[in-house]
Amino acid sequence: MRGIILAGGTGTRLYPLTRLINKHLLPVGKYPMIVYGIDRLRQAGIKEILIVMGKQSAGLYTEFLGSGQDFGVQLTYRIQESAGGIAEALDRGRSFIMKDEKFVVLLGDNLFMDDLSTYVNKFAQQPAGTARVLLKQVQDARRYGVPVFDRARPELISRIEEKPAKPKSSYSVTGFYMYDTSVFDIISGIRPSDRGELEITDVNNVYAADGRLEYDILQHWWGDAGTFESLQEAGKKMKGILP
Ligand code: DAU
Repeated sequence: MRGIILAGGTGTRLYPLTRLINKHLLPVGKYPMIVYGIDRLRQAGIKEILIVMGKQSAGLYTEFLGSGQDFGVQLTYRIQESAGGIAEALDRGRSFIMKDEKFVVLLGDNLFMDDLSTYVNKFAQQPAGTARVLLKQVQDARRYGVPVFDRARPELISRIEEKPAKPKSSYSVTGFYMYDTSVFDIISGIRPSDRGELEITDVNNVYAADGRLEYDILQHWWGDAGTFESLQEAGKKMKGILP
């Protein structure tokens, strides 16, 4: 299986730091943030990885990560010209994935303490045309995509609400998505949201609407390091995770 790490976007919630350097290169413990995502994929046996990034700091990515050899993976890079949304960034990976192949997508600012292998293996057994996401129980779900569970079939998500004022569950949909190439047809069919972005939640809701979105619940700490508070927390939690 191949993997795509999305590291585009503007990182406005981390201004002014991200005016200097791209968010995913900011330090989390001893390493730039993105290294933790690369290592989680490697650990799950996913060694061919595409990094989709913005133009900012592009040279620094290749300077630090190179071919990926030092991190036990093989890296390919692609540029997202402007921050048109997570689903638009994912679409940049269309030709990196082979026809009918299953693959995983990781948001570069998401940090996972769990070993993701079990979840990836479960996804490998799923029928074609279905997707899988990872959830985590959180204190304040209003910052995230929030799942609504299917009453009749609780192993499925029936809908995801993006940053709802009144969350219908206490779970966040984390930034680790498992798809096959059917996702690219879905991306072609969605329209930009009110904020002008192609939203990953709109993509996932197409799967959810016809009972094709399965999930697992993470056991250990997870965070997205998109704000100063969460970046600091990530530094503490991920300390010592990598040698
Ligand atoms: O962290 C989990 C959350 O991530 C989910 O619960 C939400 O459903 C999902 O929409 C997303 O929400 P955020 O508001 O946190 O997304 P953000 O705009 O911060 O983007 C997250 C990552 O996606 C970022 O680190 C890089 C990548 N990205 C984002 C955009 C907008 C791109 O590669 N290109 C983009 O254009």
